Amino acid sequence: MWYNQEAMKKISFGNLMVTGGAGFIGSNFIRHVFEKTGYAGRIVNFDALTYAGNPRSLDDVAAKFGERYVFVRGDIRDPEAIRRAFDEYSIDAVCHFAAESHVDRSIVSPGAFIETNVNGTFNLLQAARERGDAFVRFHHVSTDEVFGSLGAEGFFSETTPYQPHSPYSASKASSDHIARAYHDTYGLNVTITNCSNNYGPYQFPEKLIPLMILNAVEGKPLPVYGEGLNIRDWLHVEDHCAAIWTVMTQAESGTTYCVGGRSELRNIDVVKRICALVERFRGPLPNGAPRESLITHVADRLGHDKRYAIDCSKIERDFGWRQTHTADSGFEETVRWYLDNPAWVESVRSGEYLRWIETYYAGR
Ligand code: NAD
Ligand code: DAU
Repeated sequence: MWYNQEAMKKISFGNLMVTGGAGFIGSNFIRHVFEKTGYAGRIVNFDALTYAGNPRSLDDVAAKFGERYVFVRGDIRDPEAIRRAFDEYSIDAVCHFAAESHVDRSIVSPGAFIETNVNGTFNLLQAARERGDAFVRFHHVSTDEVFGSLGAEGFFSETTPYQPHSPYSASKASSDHIARAYHDTYGLNVTITNCSNNYGPYQFPEKLIPLMILNAVEGKPLPVYGEGLNIRDWLHVEDHCAAIWTVMTQAESGTTYCVGGRSELRNIDVVKRICALVERFRGPLPNGAPRESLITHVADRLGHDKRYAIDCSKIERDFGWRQTHTADSGFEETVRWYLDNPAWVESVRSGEYLRWIETYYAGR
């Protein structure tokens, strides 16, 4: 790992709250911080456990890091719950992931996106501000979707004007602006990252890559929106986690960094690659047909952004951050992970983890 331990001492904290730590990126981030960065403090995972949150994704971390890892079931829409956790654990930094994150859901039911992504972020910023000088860093994890959509040319960068289209991206844009306002107005120590599409282990199978892996394995249709010509810039979740930790521990307050994979692919090509990998590990379909034959073109997403692509030269230049996975190595590793972890897949798809949560909390 290329972390510069001296540079990381710039921002120092010992009671880090990670919101949304039971989700895809948050759970990878907590594991990454404990195992790869040399962080010696405590992490409080504050998560409401919506359909997308699975505490089982961190069973290994809970077993290995004991009292340095605390799970608090709490909702960022509830300011009192946030304050209680801040006081009880003397929170001095926040890495804020908690959000409604799926664009398709935001098209069907936008209300939850405003409540959690906008109001929830406001509640957290307010609690951080109330801690005064005891609070040293609020890192807000955001998305490249705030910038809107690109044509065939060009890249999003830190200076690109905001032009969100979906209720999801509009809610994230709002939360970015509120986070910046808390820096500019109250001097709160805030940093922001805007990242492109992530993939990797523990991603809820509503998103393109895990959905296609599991459907291809099970011989179900692979629903490609429209012609599948929309382009996304794919980044392995571990590289995103390293970028977040770098910015939150080294960047100046009030700064923003764009993070991307330098790995643009059309959706149809992503799906074909997944099919080829599943076929390599599991062979063709039982009737001998190739897995690709499962591809089914369906109606396009409303307001579907055409292309995302990130110019991440600022984080590369300032901190030497680099992607360590390519789409070739990362997609293969991810397909293998889903094939090797059927118990996790079953737990998120069957609702078993929701029953486990009720058992876990019984009597508390
Ligand atoms: P996810 O949907 O997998 O996880 C979200 C987590 O937040 C879940 O654990 C859920 O239980 C929790 N949560 C939701 N509402 C909550 C509430 N009201 N209070 C407390 N917890 C709540 O999401 P993800 O893909 O891991 O994304 C995490 C963050 O990263 C989001 O802010 C998202 O906008 C951002 N982001 C995601 C990507 C990506 O490709 N997935 C890329 C860039 C940025
Ligand atoms: O760019 C960062 C964003 O990436 C994050 O902010 C979001 O939280 C995250 O969900 C992701 O948004 P996308 O909408 O790009 O990801 P999704 O996996 O939903 O879709 C990727 C592309 O694949 C998109 O163009 C829509 C298409 N798609 C998706 C699904 C689920 C399909 O063609 N078929 C599908 O079934």
